[in-house]
Parts: sequence; structure tokens; C-alpha cells
Amino acid sequence: MFPANTYIQRRKKLHTQVDSGLLLVMGNDDVGMNYKANTYHFRQDSNFLYFFGIDKQGFAGVIDLDEGTETVFGNDFTIDDVVWMGPQPSVKELASQVGIEKTASYSKLEDVLKKAKSAGRKIHYLPPYRYENMYKLNQWLDIPISELKANASEEFIKAVVAQRSYKSPEEIIELHTACTISGAMHFAAMHAAAVGKTEANIVGIVEGIASSAGCSLAYPVILSKDGQTLHNHYHGNIFKEGDLILGDFGAATAKHYAGDLTRTYPAGKTFTDRQKDIYNIVLRMQTYSLSALKPGVKYKDVHLLAAEKMTDGLKELGLMKGDSKEAVAAGAHALFFPHGLGHMMGLDVHDMEDLGEDYVGYSDTVKRSDQFGTAYLRLGRELEQGFVLTVEPGCYFIPELIDKWKAEKKFTDFINYDKVESYKDFGGVRIEDDVLITDRGSSILGKPVPKIVEDIEGIRKGGNDPSQN
Ligand code: GLY
Ligand code: MN
Ligand code: MN
Repeated sequence: MFPANTYIQRRKKLHTQVDSGLLLVMGNDDVGMNYKANTYHFRQDSNFLYFFGIDKQGFAGVIDLDEGTETVFGNDFTIDDVVWMGPQPSVKELASQVGIEKTASYSKLEDVLKKAKSAGRKIHYLPPYRYENMYKLNQWLDIPISELKANASEEFIKAVVAQRSYKSPEEIIELHTACTISGAMHFAAMHAAAVGKTEANIVGIVEGIASSAGCSLAYPVILSKDGQTLHNHYHGNIFKEGDLILGDFGAATAKHYAGDLTRTYPAGKTFTDRQKDIYNIVLRMQTYSLSALKPGVKYKDVHLLAAEKMTDGLKELGLMKGDSKEAVAAGAHALFFPHGLGHMMGLDVHDMEDLGEDYVGYSDTVKRSDQFGTAYLRLGRELEQGFVLTVEPGCYFIPELIDKWKAEKKFTDFINYDKVESYKDFGGVRIEDDVLITDRGSSILGKPVPKIVEDIEGIRKGGNDPSQN
């Protein structure tokens, strides 16, 4: 938890951002995996964490904008709970840690909401994504579950996005820590991977590093020799000479700030020439993108320019042809780069995605494309100082997509399918770093993780990484 004043100031700002009514922020509950008492790892709702800070199950917060009051709703633990869980702070104690005096039992929340509703007052809530909270909102507000999302308060969503998009110095320290630990995980993976080991062997190492640093995972580990599958969570393969390993994983700090890094390297000690060619294209896309970042720049433009850089490189290898700008405008590049260049990052690895990607990543002047590939770009808007985002270009050879496009004769002016056929066993490359937008440019968060071919091969041959000393 940050000092109480952090939460006091955040809530104070909400009072000025939203006109009137009640702001309801739902915390999360435990969810049973296979029976009620055997629960998934608990993760508090990020908006509740941001404004109310309490990292425990069974809480909700209400800000009454008309009365100017703030209330934490939760139940004190019983002696039975204490027997199983040890001594626990009271609701009053937890609320006071985030600067709130007024508390009430959780069952009172329903009365408060129903009273406000019958008085015709506006109850602002954020889009729910957990079924427990959907059920509660449905019962309390009498809104059908299927209509809850559409009835979420746009005014409240915009107010939250307007605060959470700009990271404060104390949040930046957390994000820096998350990225440094994520970097240590990647360095260890790069060191430990070897022909004959399994993907799971390496996953175990990186998860252990996160846990032993008092962190959790910011999202399930992606670590695969089949990097062409963008979010590959299968870890059963044994590495062979010639495989390319794509690892995309990151730690979340105890305060839940995320890191999200990707590195790609050979299972053996060196890249093949073919791997080096594609790898260096992706590295150039990333280097170019990083150098373009500064306030005012539209991230969608950076994405499209990165796609052009890739097209230039693939043309040199004979995989693409024609004018690069035209190829990207048509969407031909998406055969090889079918995802976005990056997304906002903070308390959530895809920050605030629960509130709606278009509120977070787009603006009045930058709208989401509906073209395959570019449509997946989560962040397209003008960048501003204080934003934290990922820069994660990639180049993939997805056999099923290649077969489909080839059969459809898609973009034959721009794609040399005969040559592409010979890359169908390639896999994929992605390189991902996390950056803070500064007043004039950007800076990479965390200690740098090697990404130049020579440095990676140095580690794969058993050398040390000077950046981690
Ligand atoms: N780790 C998921 C992503 O990079 O978006
Ligand atoms: Mn990632
Ligand atoms: Mn990412």
C-alpha cells in the first residue's frame, strides 16, 4: 500500500471530475477453482486498488459526490476466520490506512444503493468483468446481466482513465522494480535454456524468480519454441538445435504493478543466418520505434512506420515486394505482424483494459482501424508525458494464416508466397520493452535486458550479461 495521502488525493480528484451521484468501486472476491474453498490466486480489482488500496477479498467503496462522503464496505473477520488465517486487521484499521473513517458492513451496501436508486440518484459503476460482481450488481441495481456493461458510467470510466494514464513518481518506482525483476527472469531464462531441456524447465525457473522476489506473475508465462503462436501457454516441448525460443513474461510487484518483456533467442548457442536476418529486422523495428517516442506522437503512426520497416526488411529477403507504404496501407504486412506495437501498462499489464480499450488507447482524433492486424493495436492515441507503455514489434510465420492467404490469393502484389512457403517452419520473433514517456522522449524501465545478437549469443555461450552486474 502507498501512504494514505496517495489514495486521499486520487479520490479527491474524482470529486472534481464527476458531477454528482454515487461512485461505486467493487473489490474482488475469491473464486473457487474446483470447489469453493480451493481458490484461484486472489487478485484485487485494479480500480479498487487504485482508489481504495485495500488488497483483500470482500470489499467495496462508495464515494457520495453530493454528501462528500467516502465509505468502505466490508466485514470484520470472525474468530473462525482467525483460526484458519491468523490475526487480521479490522475493516476500520484497513480503511484508516487509506484515509477513510467511515465504514459499514458489506450487507449495508445493498441498502445504500437501493435507497439512492429509489431517490433517483445516479449510481456510477465501472464495467464489471467478474461474474460474482455482475451477479451482485444485477441484484442490487436491477439491471440485467447482459446490459450491465452498456450501463456502466462513461463519465466515471473517463475520469478513471484520465487519472490512471499518468503514472506518478511512486508508481514509476514500482514499475521500474517490476521491470528489473522481469529482466532478471529473462536473463535467467536466456542463461538456463538449452537443447534437451523442456519449455516447462525454464518456466519453473522464471516463476521461481518472481516468487522469491516477493512478486507474482503479471500474466501467465509465454515461453515457447513456437513463437508464431502469439500467446502460447503450452510448455511441453523439448528444445532442439535450430529452435528459436520466444519468452514473454513479467513480474508484478506486491503492489501489483506489472512488467511485460519479451526476448527471442536460439535454443542452441547461436542464431542461424536465417534467424539472424528476421531477428535483426524486428530489432530495427523496435529501435526505430523507441527513437520515435515522445509526447504528441500518435502511437498508431509509430506502429505503421514499424510495419513499413519490417516490410523493407522482408523485401530485402525476397519475402515481400512492391512499395512498402502501399503494402502497409493495404494491410499486407499483417501476415507477418498481426498484432499491435504495444499497449499501456501499469496496475494491469494491459492497463485499464477492463474499462474499454478505446477509452484508454484511442482519442477523438485517433480511431481504431478495422483492418486485420492493425485492429489489434491497443494503443493508437497521441502519447503524453507520464504514460507507460510497451514497444513490442514482432515477425511471425503462422503456417495456417499463410495457407489461408495464399489460397485466397491475398495481396499477391506484395507477398512472395513461394518464398514464404520455405519459412513455414521458422516460428516467430518478438522483442518487447516497457517505456515511460518523458518530457522530450522516452526511457526504458528496468535494467536493460540484452537484445543485440552478439550479446545474446554471448550469454547463450555461457558468458555473463554486464547489464545485470
Ligand atoms: N504479455 C502480453 C502482451 O505482451 O501483450
Ligand atoms: Mn508481453
Ligand atoms: Mn505486451
